[in-house]
Amino acid sequence: MKPVTKQVCAHLIRGTIWNCNSSPFSDPDFEEISDGALAIDSQGRILGLGTASSLKRLFKPKNETHFKDSVLLPGFIDTHIHFPQMNQIGCHGESLLGWLEKYIYPEEIRMSHPQQAQRFSSLFFDELLQNGTTTSLILSSSDASSTDILFNSAKDSGARAIIGKVSMDRLAPKELIRSVSQDKDHSERLISKWHGKEGRLFYALTPRFSPACSNAMLRMLGELAQKYSGVRIQTHFSENLDEIKLVKKLFPKAKDYLHTYEDFGLLNERTVLAHCIHASASEINRMAKLKVNVSHCPTSNLFLGSGLFPMDAYSRKEITTSVGTDIGAGTSFSIWTTLGAAYKIQRLRHQDVSTAQLFYLATLGGAKALGLENEVGNFEVGKKADIQVINWKKKSILKARMENSQTALDRFFSCLFHFEKDLIEAVFVDGKPVFARQ
Ligand code: GUN
Ligand code: ZN
Repeated sequence: MKPVTKQVCAHLIRGTIWNCNSSPFSDPDFEEISDGALAIDSQGRILGLGTASSLKRLFKPKNETHFKDSVLLPGFIDTHIHFPQMNQIGCHGESLLGWLEKYIYPEEIRMSHPQQAQRFSSLFFDELLQNGTTTSLILSSSDASSTDILFNSAKDSGARAIIGKVSMDRLAPKELIRSVSQDKDHSERLISKWHGKEGRLFYALTPRFSPACSNAMLRMLGELAQKYSGVRIQTHFSENLDEIKLVKKLFPKAKDYLHTYEDFGLLNERTVLAHCIHASASEINRMAKLKVNVSHCPTSNLFLGSGLFPMDAYSRKEITTSVGTDIGAGTSFSIWTTLGAAYKIQRLRHQDVSTAQLFYLATLGGAKALGLENEVGNFEVGKKADIQVINWKKKSILKARMENSQTALDRFFSCLFHFEKDLIEAVFVDGKPVFARQ
């Protein structure tokens, strides 16, 4: 028999593998490969996925790392998180509009100071990576300099990130308000400096929500969305009933809340709308037609008492849905914990979300929502190796639960309710180590 010529690869990483290949909303699929491996090239792309023995027959690795007793799974994707709210988790007693006014706007003024942004931005990315999150769509403050600092920290941390400075020109403290022309200038400067940098940093136009933006601001952002075709768009939508009443009052001519974004060209396949709890059937139909993406933020919705996300209404229309922590209304940086909360919300609605669907929301669903599905989201050959490594044997109560379980899906599901940061052993982005537990 002719000997097989082995292909050289930069790194072979071994461990049990959890992965998914398509949307379980239409076609349930989740795979476990025990004693699996990933072969990675020098650019951080996946060359091979399979059992360790099969990959060892095909590849000659320059380096090999074996994570015994651990699982390798795609780095999680957080599609809605606020950097300047990282120190405001758990502020008591208000729902959305009161909470913004009492706690959040004052904090965003403080976090707009470059010194504060400098002090906390690297901690922010440390926290994301240590929780197994490798890609995030992030709202910064409305200040351009502190957003620039945040981009620099993303670059240094190795994380994959899409970041936008928040745009507001009304109904907020004057320190957070920028005129339409200032905002345009600041947004364009950030786009030209950062969008597409290092292949893993991108810009998102970020009207905070329509109550905080005049027609002129929304129009200007819609024009930028047309001018810069790869730039993403992120905002809040239909989170709270008082917010919806306020939108009606401020936009008397608009058909509904969605129309306030639709009218200005802010809704397309590059848009992520956070929350989407109280949308009407007409709004959901138009969201499907416009191919916008949804970020479900369960810990935030529970914390502010905003409502119960109707996941089935979006899956029926095949609207790409993903999950966000929404720190600091959200109460955990962990997407593991966020998925556990997403499950509980569907239980409260007497609906089910399957374990494969939960896995998808945080991986391939997130990648699709961010237009990164050709780059990340699962371990398909050719994609970037964004990997988290979890060692469930570290926690005895979880170890016992795992040893009793019959299926890989059950093992994944139980991790959602036992998650602690200490379980994350290592994290890779673009095949490079960005976190390793000592
Ligand atoms: N709507 C407008 N701004 C915000 C915010 O900062 N957090 C949440 N949860 N909703 C918002
Ligand atoms: Zn938010």
